[in-house]
Formats: sequence, structure tokens, C-alpha cells
Amino acid sequence: MKVAVFDTHNYDQAALAEANEEFHHELSFLEPRLTEKTAALALGHEAVCPFVNGQLDDATLRILKESGVRVVALRSAGYNHVDLAAAERLGISVLRVPEYSPHAVAEHAVALVLALNRKVHRAYARVRDWNFSLEGLVGFDLFGKTVGIIGTGRIGYVAARIFRGFGCRVLAHDVLENPSIVSELGGAYTSLRDLYRESDIISLHVPLTPKTRHMVNREALAVMKRGAMIINTGRGALIDSRALVSALKAGHLGAAGLDVYEEEEGIFFEDLSSEVLQDDVLARLLTFPNVLITSHQAFLTHEALHNIATTTLRNITAFEQGILENEVHRRRTS
Ligand code: NAI
Repeated sequence: MKVAVFDTHNYDQAALAEANEEFHHELSFLEPRLTEKTAALALGHEAVCPFVNGQLDDATLRILKESGVRVVALRSAGYNHVDLAAAERLGISVLRVPEYSPHAVAEHAVALVLALNRKVHRAYARVRDWNFSLEGLVGFDLFGKTVGIIGTGRIGYVAARIFRGFGCRVLAHDVLENPSIVSELGGAYTSLRDLYRESDIISLHVPLTPKTRHMVNREALAVMKRGAMIINTGRGALIDSRALVSALKAGHLGAAGLDVYEEEEGIFFEDLSSEVLQDDVLARLLTFPNVLITSHQAFLTHEALHNIATTTLRNITAFEQGILENEVHRRRTS
């Protein structure tokens, strides 16, 4: 099948080209992300393959339809950037990669915790300037601390296991309880409010839905322990970024590790080093010594890239054969 692959970089082109030796699709690698403005590039392709920051709204999907596209094969687990109602109306199937490496994302969440806690990002910059002072670099033992995991699905569960390995106490919150959190890890499920109140570290692993959007808002931040650390490798809009800035400025929140940001589209994945950053909230977040931001890279391991490429191409092959594998259904968003 002819597939227009949007938002590609060297690393995913290499993984897709390698995986395609098995599937033999005709892949057109395109650099722009998929938006209303770039959708016409899909002309002549039956499938498009966007990444997490594509904008698959009604307008984009209409252009795709007019261009001959029948299927959207997402290279991601999350699908909050797709207007599923519009896709259904237009008869475009939406497929995704439900799991590619929960380890990749969970391990990155833990990397953010360790770096922030032991100030590795500051120490790195400091010693390169021959400043070998330890002032301001005091961290805390993870052993015995309480870690609140919000969303105990694939990634949250792996994160909980790693934190348990450090000797942390695991508190969890989810609409569906995972029995292993209690039986295997000795953790406990609790209300969101109690999790916020008791956790030293809070790590977000829920999808972005209307219910979870801005779940970490001014009120939630106020309930958190003074000095708590928040980690977000889920989706940016789980946190109200302006409220986060206020909590950091007030010294109430101890640290924030963010792999995602609510306005990351058009910024993350791009080299803007010669430009003036136009997002004032992101610019302010980058001024805090206790904030560590990575550019949506939690998924970026060899294993995850290989699995994303293979599942995406297999989804397209199955679609050609009339099988809707890993289809995203509209009702899943509610
Ligand atoms: P999953 O579907 O296995 O787990 C999500 C969990 O969240 C489920 O247990 C579900 O019951 C729970 N949940 C849903 N709505 C909830 C609510 N309102 N309140 C409490 N719990 C709720 O998903 P998985 O694979 O663990 O991924 C989680 C999220 O991580 C994805 O949706 C995606 O947004 C994000 N992600 C980020 C990546 C990155 O590179 N930063 C890469 C991959 C995923």
C-alpha cells in the first residue's frame, strides 16, 4: 500500500525502512507533521502515518479523504489528537500501536526523578565550568518515600515496579484497578486527593481524555505535599502549565520533570535553537533550576522504535486484507 509517513526523522525512517523489508509497502517519508496545511501531501496515498503531534481534526481528515486516504495508521499509543467522530463519518479507519515498550516510557520517568532529585542536570553543567562545589545539590533517598502512580496500565505498572525496587511505597489511582499493584508490589489504591496529599513523587500515566485534561490544576497542586515532585510522561495537557508555574514560583512544588507539554506541537521535535521561543509559559518553566524538560523522548529506545515500526506496518497489511487490527473505536475516548 502507498503510505505517506509524516513527521519523520532519521531515527524513525531507519526503523520503518528496516521493518518494511518484511511488509513491502511503498513508504513516502515526509518531514512536516500532518496538519490541515500539509494534508494535501498525502495525495495519491491510501494510508497516512502520523506521529503524536499531528493535528487530525475535521478539516485535515476531509482533505485526506479527498486525497484518497482510507486509513490512518498512528505511530503512537495515544490518539487524543484525532477527531474520531469525523474519521468515522468520513469512513477513514484509525489504527494505533497500543503497546510498544512500556519499559521505555517508565524508565524515562524514573530517569527524570533521579536526575531532578540528585540534580544531575545542574551538576553536569557545573563541572563543565570547573565549578566543583556541592552547594545546592542535596537530594533525598528514594528508599522509603511514597510514590503516587496515576494510571496503572502498561506504563504505570512498570513504573510502579521500578519504584518498588528502590524500596518506595507505592500508592496508586486508576479507574480500573490492577491487582498486581497490591498483591505483587504491596501497593494500595487510593483516591486522587489522598494520593496527592501523601506522595513525595507523583507520576502521571493516564491517557489524555476530557476527564483527565488539567487533572493537575491549581486545586490539585495545592493539596500536594510541600516539596513534592511531579513527573509527566503522559500527555502535556494533563497538567495546567500556568498553575504549575505558580506552584513552582511559590516554592510549594519541589520539582517537575516533564517529557510532554500541553503546547508542544510545533516546538517539540524541532531544532529552534536559532529562533526566539514564542511560548512564554514554556520559557518560564525552563528558567526553574528544579524543572527538567525533555522533548517527548520517553518512547525513544531502539526496542520501542522497532516495535512501533513493525506494528504500524503490520496494521496496514492487515487493513489491506480487510482486518482492522488495533483499530481505535470512538467509544474508547469517553
Ligand atoms: P494504558 O491504557 O495501558 O493505561 C492507562 C491507564 O489509565 C489505564 O489503566 C486506565 O484505566 C487509566 N485511566 C484512564 N482514564 C483514567 C482516569 N480518568 N482516571 C484514572 N485512571 C484512568 O496506557 P499506557 O500504555 O500505560 O500509556 C499511558 C499514556 O502514556 C498514553 O495514553 C500516552 O498518552 C502516554 N505515552 C507517552 C509516551 C511518551 O513518549 N512520553 C509514549 C507512550 C505513551
